[in-house]
Formats: sequence, C-alpha cells, structure tokens
Amino acid sequence: MAEPLVKATALARAYQRGAVSVTALAPVSFRIERGDRVGLIGPSGSGKTTLLNLVAGLDQPSSGWIAWPALGESAVPRPRFIGAAFQARSLIPTLSCGENVELPLALLDEAADAPRRALEALEAFGVADLADKLPGEVSGGQAQRVALARAIITGPSLLLADEPTGQLDSLSGASTLDSLGDWLDRTGAALLLATHDPTVSGRMKAIWRLDHGVVQIAKRKTS
Ligand SMILES: Nc1ncnc2c1ncn2[C@@H]1O[C@H](COP(=O)(O)OP(=O)(O)OP(=O)(O)O)[C@@H](O)[C@H]1O
Ligand SMILES: [Mg+2]
Repeated sequence: MAEPLVKATALARAYQRGAVSVTALAPVSFRIERGDRVGLIGPSGSGKTTLLNLVAGLDQPSSGWIAWPALGESAVPRPRFIGAAFQARSLIPTLSCGENVELPLALLDEAADAPRRALEALEAFGVADLADKLPGEVSGGQAQRVALARAIITGPSLLLADEPTGQLDSLSGASTLDSLGDWLDRTGAALLLATHDPTVSGRMKAIWRLDHGVVQIAKRKTS
C-alpha cells in the first residue's frame, strides 16, 4: 500500500492562557491519502485552523505525533509538497497578484518560467486578468482565488484551504470549487478544506466534524 501523505497519532494542541491550559485540539489520529477530499466543519473556535496549521507543519503539537511519510525526506514538509490558502488575507500588498503567485517558485529557485506558470494558475481560477493588479485593488473574493492560485503553483500533493470561499457569493463559490475539483482531478492531490458552508462540505468525499477541539471523522462517500 502506498504511504500516506500525512499520518497523525494522538495529535493535540493546547494554548496556555496564564495558568490555564485551553484545549484547541483534543487528541486525534488520522491519515490523509492521495486523492482524499476532506471537509473540516465545526463552529467558530472549534479548532479547524489549529488542525490545518499542524498539518501544514506551521505549528507544533503540544502532544502526539505528525509525520508526512510520502512528502519527501525532510521531517517537516517543504512548500513543494503542501500548498496552503489561509483564512486571513495573506497576499503581500506591495507585489502584484501575479508576482504573489510567482513567489513560491522564486523561493524554490524555479523563477525561469514563473510568469507563465503564474498566469496558468490564475487562469485555473478564472482570475488571470488580475495578474497586474495589486491585492488592495481586488475584492476579497478575488484575493481568495489568487491565494488559491498561489497555493497550487508548485504542484503540491496536498492542498490546505481555510474557508477558501468564505468571501464569495454562492455562484462564484461554486465556480471556484469547480476549478478546484478540476485541478484535483488532474493532479490527484489531496485536499483538506475548512468551511462553514454545508454546500461546500457536501462536495467533499469525507467530513471531519470538530466541536470544542474534538474531531469526529466520518467517511461519508466511497467514490
Ligand atoms: N494563538 C492562539 N493563542 C491562544 N488561543 C488560540 C490561538 N489560536 C487559536 N486559539 C484558540 O483555539 C481554539 C480554536 O481556534 P481555531 O482558530 O482553530 O478555530 P476555528 O475552528 O478555525 O474557528 P473559525 O471558524 O472562527 O476560524 C479557540 O478557542 C481559539 O480561541
Ligand atoms: Mg479558522
């Protein structure tokens, strides 16, 4: 059997508030395999972003283990293998949208055909016409699509998306999800996506429901 992209065992995260320890994520064990499409749902403060940050390798667990067996040699995965579109605005305001999308390639020393690849990634989300605009000149929903383009440009095996359609109306949200689905079909990458929107989570193959940091993992569909 192929190695999983992510393997977590009793993964947990608590934050210290003065003398009090607040559980953001109760111990959870899971695997993420190629082609998985997981919707993370749960009320505000239930731990969705906490879990995504741990899977991204951007945060350390307070206890438990996480490993990325199929994602390269390093103990912590590199940007080539995991793409992330964050919940908060994360585009660099002084770079154009196109330059923002090119940035991961520059960091990976693949700048040569970066402008062409950036346009392709923007095109995949229907926002190629924004390449020369600054992030401050585009709408919140357009910025989210640019951030998705930036997240996929390195061809990651795992895409993490935190409320990627949170600022889109239902029609634009559906078209963004269609674009995302096309990209996943083409590449075979896995997706872990946090959302408050049942129509978005309904398109995932599995749902992980969070409540006060407790994750209930329920595979709903087999195909
Ligand atoms: N840096 C931090 N310091 C202290 N507590 C934090 C920190 N980040 C998150 N928390 C707490 O951890 C819990 C989970 O937060 P998290 O951001 O993961 O929730 P969420 O499900 O993503 O919420 P939302 O839907 O509003 O984005 C919350 O109680 C939050 O207050
Ligand atoms: Mg969040």
